[in-house]
Amino acid sequence: MTTATHDVSLRYARVGRKLRGQPTSDGAGVRLTRVIGGAELPDLDPFLLLDEFGTDRAEDYIAGFPEHPHRGFETVTYMLDGRMRHKDNHGNEGVLVPGSVQWMTAGRGLVHSEMPEQHEGRMRGFQLWVNLPARDKMTDPRYQEFAPERIPLLQPADGVAVKVIAGRVDGTDGPIAQPATDPVYLDIALDAGAQWQYALPEGHNAFVYVYEGAAAIGDGVDAREVEAQELAVLAGGEVLKLRAGAADTRAILVAGRPLREPVARYGPFVMNTKQEVMQAFVDFQEGKF
Ligand code: FE2
Repeated sequence: MTTATHDVSLRYARVGRKLRGQPTSDGAGVRLTRVIGGAELPDLDPFLLLDEFGTDRAEDYIAGFPEHPHRGFETVTYMLDGRMRHKDNHGNEGVLVPGSVQWMTAGRGLVHSEMPEQHEGRMRGFQLWVNLPARDKMTDPRYQEFAPERIPLLQPADGVAVKVIAGRVDGTDGPIAQPATDPVYLDIALDAGAQWQYALPEGHNAFVYVYEGAAAIGDGVDAREVEAQELAVLAGGEVLKLRAGAADTRAILVAGRPLREPVARYGPFVMNTKQEVMQAFVDFQEGKF
């Protein structure tokens, strides 16, 4: 027999697993923390990578990410601090400012650079890679880029502020559209002790990455503390319950519909088969990106 109390607790997502990112460097020597995409968590379908970059030291970011290709997936850059210039071989160029997001669908391929537009000061943000289904891997490249003022900022509860980059909160939609994975991407700020609940889309894989403070995730005895620089993969429930600890807390919540397709991955190319990855190398070398 199941008690009513038990039924209620089942509704809440719990922390299925918790992990810390690994320090690494990428591009021309940018120091960053790899949270998804390393040995511990190679991917979380449809997410292929999550990097946090955050430093006050220019030497950690100044070399940037010079020209490199991408094919078969999307790169999502969300800036918290600092300015980054983006430029690709199709003539797209722009500067990402604090609070802006760039959701780039690489599709069949492009070559781009991402270079700091500053010589000092803080640079902080996230890069997320989102896989594309087989039918969209060779689509035309596309950008969804939004300045901070285009990203809805809601106050859904006392002491809680949420920026809706993708997905829906209390009837407000974020600006990003991607039907293939139907993503949710929220930047959540909780005052110390503040609490918020959010209904996750059914069947999505979801994670919370705390980047300041600490939060308890889950309900009652199932709640687990997640500290800054820890990732919680959510499991077993459709409502996220988040409660900040003794400090003001910030976290991102990201969720997406899993693609459940084979992943053949090599560096900046993510396809379904090894042969398609080899074709990507050939096409890139022949200048077809
Ligand atoms: Fe890139």
